[in-house]
Amino acid sequence: MTGTRTSTSPDIEEAVEAALGKLDLDAKTRLLAGQDMWSLPALPEIGLESLVMSDGPIGVRGVRWTAGDPSVALPSPTALAATWDPALARRAGTLLAQEARRKGVHVLLAPTVNLHRSPLGGRHFEAYSEDPFLTGEIGTGYVQGVQSGGVGTTVKHFVANDAETDRFTVNNLVGERVLRELYLAPFEAIVENAHPWGIMTAYNTVNGTTMTEHHYLVNEILRGEWGFDGVNVSDWTAARDTVGGIEGGLDLAMPGPDTVYGEALAQAVRDGGVEESTVDKAVRNVLRLAARVGILEGATAAVTDLPETVDGEELVREIARRAFVLARNEDRALPLPPESTVALIGAAARDARVLGGGSAVVFPARVVSPLDGLTAALPDGSLSYAVGADPTTELAVADKGFELRAVCRDADGTVIGTGSAPNGHIQWMGSDLPEGVTHDRLHSIELTGTFTPREAGRHTFGIKGLGAFVLRVDGTTYYDEVQHPAKDDPFITFFGAPEPRAQVDLVADRPVAVSLTHVVRLPEDLPLRVITFTLAHQGPQRDPDELIAEAVAAARAADTAVVVVATTERVESEGFDRKDLRLPGRQDDLVHAVAAANPRTVVVVNSGSPVEMPWRDEVAAVLLSWFPGQEGGAALADVLTGAYEPGGRLPTTWGALADAPVTKVVPVDGELPYSEGVFIGYTAWEKAGRTPVYPFGHGLGYTDWTYESVEVHGTTVKVRVRNSGERAGREVVQIYLAPTESDPGRPARRLAGFTGVTTAPGETAEVTVQLPRRAFEIWDETRGAWSFVKGSYEIQVGRSITDRRLTATINV
Ligand code: BGC
Repeated sequence: MTGTRTSTSPDIEEAVEAALGKLDLDAKTRLLAGQDMWSLPALPEIGLESLVMSDGPIGVRGVRWTAGDPSVALPSPTALAATWDPALARRAGTLLAQEARRKGVHVLLAPTVNLHRSPLGGRHFEAYSEDPFLTGEIGTGYVQGVQSGGVGTTVKHFVANDAETDRFTVNNLVGERVLRELYLAPFEAIVENAHPWGIMTAYNTVNGTTMTEHHYLVNEILRGEWGFDGVNVSDWTAARDTVGGIEGGLDLAMPGPDTVYGEALAQAVRDGGVEESTVDKAVRNVLRLAARVGILEGATAAVTDLPETVDGEELVREIARRAFVLARNEDRALPLPPESTVALIGAAARDARVLGGGSAVVFPARVVSPLDGLTAALPDGSLSYAVGADPTTELAVADKGFELRAVCRDADGTVIGTGSAPNGHIQWMGSDLPEGVTHDRLHSIELTGTFTPREAGRHTFGIKGLGAFVLRVDGTTYYDEVQHPAKDDPFITFFGAPEPRAQVDLVADRPVAVSLTHVVRLPEDLPLRVITFTLAHQGPQRDPDELIAEAVAAARAADTAVVVVATTERVESEGFDRKDLRLPGRQDDLVHAVAAANPRTVVVVNSGSPVEMPWRDEVAAVLLSWFPGQEGGAALADVLTGAYEPGGRLPTTWGALADAPVTKVVPVDGELPYSEGVFIGYTAWEKAGRTPVYPFGHGLGYTDWTYESVEVHGTTVKVRVRNSGERAGREVVQIYLAPTESDPGRPARRLAGFTGVTTAPGETAEVTVQLPRRAFEIWDETRGAWSFVKGSYEIQVGRSITDRRLTATINV
């Protein structure tokens, strides 16, 4: 898919120059630093409003990071990539732009287009694929969609931010060919085809230079070779050096107000360390962005004709079912036979896990769990539910059964204001404080109210946050001490785990008073004012064997058992990598036991990235649901009942960790060599001669497909497929390009094109795919240029990297 290169307009450039001409050095450098966590200062003298940025890939959080300001939550980026549908990604982008406008956000901090180099990458769920071409195509659709709604994007994290361990300091050693062919490739494709208005430079270092100062990669390649004319914003707190940053092409240092830009940059110019013209270049980029999003007086915004309003709930439900990958379906166990009974099992079936952790988190106004979805879709009396196994070992934000508010006091204990607390999580940033409350007067916050237990037994209460806390439950003080950080990452304040601090025996349905008081302490290692802490809770823990036995009994009594297994926020989030690919807790034992009790066991794997499935040959069906977004349970009911087919194909290889070819994510002496070179994902599995559990591109639907013919004219490939099954369906026709002469330095084959086609049963369809020139090129390190490799190639057409149905040979 190609888009038009919509270069900036003369009108915008004129307005930018006019505005620039009116700014003095101090105003210019002030504009290059955040005024707070998410925004830039307004400059009324040039008619510039404050530019607001917000995360992130699966929703628009807005400037408030709490459940009090809900957002539509889309499926995880891995799910979006599993649709193999750039047009759907574009529609997702349109919805995100709509959300951004609703929340007063001008720029979305997304998409993440780093690659799935290793399945252990902690933020794997937040990136699209192991394949650079698929990543580029999905990212292009996404950026086109967001920007068609007049909202900017920052394609991130430029570049080689493919793991989380020591992310602020790691020096990734990546050869130029590997950078060009893999890690830079999606950025290049998106710049070329979607013309993004922004890019975010990563925390990490590449080949000895930190990315926020990388003159070669930013100024020479991104801006010089590719012609990128947008803004380069640092990842949050990644800007480390005033001169290094500005010389390295970094336009914006975020967040603020304490950054290496602003006054420090003005001083560097006055001291002669930086030319003012270098500052001007950055200011131009920021003003151009402001003009594009319509907040610079005198410039017409890039988009004046907004797309039609999207029904967010409908669209996220459609994306979810289009993303579900039916990996196994023995004897057509799915869709569920009509009129049959279902035992739904699993903690995540009731308390749905719809998104991954970290900065991508948003707070949806509603979440449809699998239990909600199936209850609505199945006839009364046909559904039972059992927990089976609960993988969550840690306490969750106090929510169900809690009624809380936040009371703010000054140092004398006088109440100065009261804030709403939809759950036990307080996160107030910058000036986002309850009415009447100022940072100067605010001394303590008390989360106070009642808790009415669902179940009797021993309840655990806990605290997440740093500093002094007092925890009281039912009149007793359980904790009155100071919590200290356990890890040297400033974001631990946001992403760390809660500490259990009280165990209390409670009676079902009897409300008790709860109170958590925190003496406000602003983090010293973050350049912003953020108050964040959480009252956490966990219900009574049952004997795991008993829970499994109950689930087995439920499975035995039903026609079909549907087990939802999931990862937790401790497994897939930001700031750390995964240690293994196992499902946490007793979930594997649960599936083995349920499968032994009911041959029609369907397992729904609710994770953003690969997990091991040691039971997969024992069960009838395996459906990978990713993090399916807020309507996930409704979408699940859609596909289980057969109202729709699951449409996804794997954007990444799923295999056992012991077999995975690339697993090193932990730097040694600060360095992480990408020694596997150009071989990651399926190209590495093929090179190693290993068979994964489910290959790249794999995914079944509810119908069958016959591949009838392939014809190639030049580099245009025409494929005829027939829907040879009994219902309508959508096929993703995949085209792999394999050099005929084997070359050990080159992958055996690579994805070079794909397209989706929907037909009625019995119908034939012809699809046409144009192979891009780049598919035939390699980066020649000696010449420092792309080199077209002439010769003979096999065009391999099929349903996955291993299920290749047709071939044709071409000479180029
Ligand atoms: C993440 C970015 C995110 C930023 C702002 C960082 O920690 O790496 O992806 O956009 O925070 O929340």
